[in-house]
Amino acid sequence: MTEPSARIEALRDQLRVWAAEYYQADAPSVSDSEYDRAFQELLQLEAQFPELITPDSPSQRVGATPLKGFPTVVHREPMLSLDNAFSAEDLVDFDRRVRERADIGRVRYVCEPKLDGIAVSLVWEGGVFTQAATRGDGHRGEGITENIRTIDAIPMQLIGPDVPRYLEVRGEVFMPRSGFEALNRRAQVEGGKPFVNPRNAAAGSLRQLDSRITRQRPLAFCAYAVGVVEGVDNPPVNHDAAMAWLGAMGIPVSEHRAVVEGPEACEAYYDHLAARRDGLDFDIDGIVYKVDDFAQRTQLGAVSRAPRWAIARKFPAQEEITRVLDVEFQVGRTGAVTPVARLEPVFVGGVTVSNATLHNADEVARLKLHIGDSVVIRRAGDVIPQIVSVVLERRPPGAANINFPESCPACTSPLMRAEGEAVWRCDAGLVCPAQQRAAIEHFVSRRAMDIDGLGEKLVDQLLQTELVQNVADLYELDPAVLARLDRMGKKSAANLVAAIDASRETTLGRFIYALGIREVGEATARQLAAYFASLESIMAATADQLQEVDDVGPVVAQHVQGFFSEPRNRDTVSRLVGLGIHWPVETAAAGSDDAPLSGETWVVTGKLEALSREQAEERLRGLGAKVATSVSSKTTVVVAGPGAGSKLKKAGQLGIPVLDEQAFLARLGEISE
Ligand code: IVH
Repeated sequence: MTEPSARIEALRDQLRVWAAEYYQADAPSVSDSEYDRAFQELLQLEAQFPELITPDSPSQRVGATPLKGFPTVVHREPMLSLDNAFSAEDLVDFDRRVRERADIGRVRYVCEPKLDGIAVSLVWEGGVFTQAATRGDGHRGEGITENIRTIDAIPMQLIGPDVPRYLEVRGEVFMPRSGFEALNRRAQVEGGKPFVNPRNAAAGSLRQLDSRITRQRPLAFCAYAVGVVEGVDNPPVNHDAAMAWLGAMGIPVSEHRAVVEGPEACEAYYDHLAARRDGLDFDIDGIVYKVDDFAQRTQLGAVSRAPRWAIARKFPAQEEITRVLDVEFQVGRTGAVTPVARLEPVFVGGVTVSNATLHNADEVARLKLHIGDSVVIRRAGDVIPQIVSVVLERRPPGAANINFPESCPACTSPLMRAEGEAVWRCDAGLVCPAQQRAAIEHFVSRRAMDIDGLGEKLVDQLLQTELVQNVADLYELDPAVLARLDRMGKKSAANLVAAIDASRETTLGRFIYALGIREVGEATARQLAAYFASLESIMAATADQLQEVDDVGPVVAQHVQGFFSEPRNRDTVSRLVGLGIHWPVETAAAGSDDAPLSGETWVVTGKLEALSREQAEERLRGLGAKVATSVSSKTTVVVAGPGAGSKLKKAGQLGIPVLDEQAFLARLGEISE
């Protein structure tokens, strides 16, 4: 029989290798349960032979007894911070300073994501993890060794032949977004206080005096620098090699690291990562550029707080704090009453935000929002701005509660809430002026009838003067009467009438969408048009027939049928057709099997440059592809421009191929050749 000590060592070695595979290479060679079995066996043996327990055993990660306070750790080399660059010009200036000082022509830079977490210094002696400290003031930090032991991604024992006698590594402890979301969901269920963002959650978790609490938190680590190194042959002479060396010993390093030459390539890396930012499972707040060569770094030196050989290029912040000035209640096209927060304008996620939807009464209650509150606003990618949380500490005295109205703010009809729904609605339909206005605005919008020049103010005037009471009235407007309205002249009246005129030629899909039937978005409208091929067939379809169409379930079918069974709606539709609205006969392009992209489902997201998103979608449809608005396992390809957000992320998670605009255009070119 093997000696217990030999078996214990074998188990520890095996567990370390598996942990490195799992946390570093993302390629575990064994199942979780196999890992757990080995771990349990180790625990049992160590319980039987406590004298064999060593601090570097994988078992010692489990939280130790609470500490009274954190000891002070003096950093052998100061932990510096970074200077910031906020534009491409700042980066060019940085590169010029580097070249002048180090007297080199072209500089090799390493580009890495700037992780938004907590900086730590970790020490391994003889390959065994012995100490961890926070940055503190750069010279002295807090010893958080026991808390760091609980982070599974950090090896307690280094592996491989090149382990030095003493190794200090610097890096960032962070909380992956997925873990953060799970943690907050748990907090919500258990009635605890949710964390504002992953960075705060990571910081709070490291600050625990009881490492058993830290142990419960989904923390991760990524190294970005080597500190003091002693006792190794041929230490690395540049950053890229140093990171590869750490990786080989089992220490996580960034898989996004890239070595480039010159500031233009740095800028290209910035764009590349900015486009992927929202698809990552961790928050980054910019890119760090570092001179790769250590000899050049020594030549460049440091100023008091930051090295001259590195700079952080910051992304526009995705979260800011601002004040809620008021909450208003908007009545939408379908009568849904939505609370909207009016904000002190704030620059976040690259744009100025002055409104944020609060979705519904449940959301207001969840946030416990008061008027006058300071709130955290988040705007990531192309997602609409969200109020994440209230900064309770900053609530002014006498901040007013938010009272949800009981009657429609536009027409005073009582509001109703359907069972199981979060939304309160005004059921007055087109009798309610707010719904009437929203219906007209929707009808004329770009993706519907696309009538240019009919802004909010003009729609209001047309309604007030009763020139328009129904969308069909638009097609009977007299330019001479229009010209007499406020801020209108002969010229703009003529332009408007021409735009209305031009909209008579449309597609059946756009027309169905423009009608504003509940739950019938653009894609559904287009599918209805493609399937039934004529307005009459859609109007006559039974609920069962309607459900033959992709994406049409019983609820949508009921809304469609309900809409067309209402005499007023039938009347409007026939008036519109009588006034000359027409469309080409549907050819069911998406259905024809020989179209080059038939059977494929594409999603276009983010900003494109050479053509608009609609143009891109129309090209795809012309080639027989189905164009969807959300990414699912059925999606064939995602086209993503800059600013792409959750859809790009989802594509990444589902492993769906992603094309940038250039690759997309190349693909279109190939197909039409
Ligand atoms: S290098 C002396 N690389 O950003 C240079 N820092 O704002 C050491 N950070 O204190 C820093 N990701 O906590 C470096 N890839 C990365 C980083 C990174 C995040 C943090 C680090 C630093 C702070 C400076």
